[in-house]
Amino acid sequence: MESKPELIKPELIELLRNTESVLFLTGAGVSAESGIPTFRDADGIWNKMKPEELANFDAFMKNPDLVWEWYQYRRQIIRESGPNKAHYAIAEFQKYFPDVSVVTQNIDNLHRRAGSETVFELHGNIERSYCIKCHAYYNSPNFTFYDKAPKCLCGGLIRPDVVWFGESLPESEFNQAEKAAQRCGVIFIAGTASVVYPAAQIPFIARRFGACLVEINIGETEISYLADYCLYGRAGDIIPAVLEEVKRVRTAL
Ligand code: OAD
Repeated sequence: MESKPELIKPELIELLRNTESVLFLTGAGVSAESGIPTFRDADGIWNKMKPEELANFDAFMKNPDLVWEWYQYRRQIIRESGPNKAHYAIAEFQKYFPDVSVVTQNIDNLHRRAGSETVFELHGNIERSYCIKCHAYYNSPNFTFYDKAPKCLCGGLIRPDVVWFGESLPESEFNQAEKAAQRCGVIFIAGTASVVYPAAQIPFIARRFGACLVEINIGETEISYLADYCLYGRAGDIIPAVLEEVKRVRTAL
């Protein structure tokens, strides 16, 4: 009888035993098992919608209600979902390593809802909104129930606090993500196609500073060639399996 190939190699387990700093770089695939659509898979958002019609500033200025409505639809999906096994397992890594950072391209806030404490959101957060004129923030969850683009007291339009095409990433989030990449011993690149920059730069920074790269995905991606280990499967299965090994070789802090 053929034996089952080992998923997590002993050398990787040994590294996890000895490292103190772990970074997760996550993408839409990590939230897929929560029922939130990804972007580039067969039934992904960008296979049904055009980013230029919905996810850029000009589109918002041309038709604010349409763009707002689309974000309301996505907020609704996120509100009705919750963190999955992958998010919870990532949060539990905090019990076993003194330094765990999560750098995410997801805007769904699910890492925080699962209990992760150090989260850098490179593409913003759908639960926050701000005025394009005076930059006042509107973070109340009730506020996000408006079905048309609301206006600020100053008269400016209010937009979701997410990064649109052609916009820069929030500088401080990216700087902190870079620092986390520079100091981590192991980086897990989970559920991302690794095609959107500058987020996709993070593994290259980690590599330059000596980290071990572990990819977790249902298939090969643009970054697979660079990874030391590719763990193929669903994030909700693989990340808890890695956590089990971590529990076995490290004691809780
Ligand atoms: P993509 O939709 O491009 O890629 C999702 C990745 O997740 C793919 O590589 C899938 O193979 C993988 N995947 C799907 N289901 C999975 C599962 N259950 N377990 C593990 N992996 C799974 O999403 P991102 O790479 O996150 O930006 O996209 C990056 C950015 O592109 C997004 O943040 C968004 C988009 O345009 C903005 O809107 C600014």
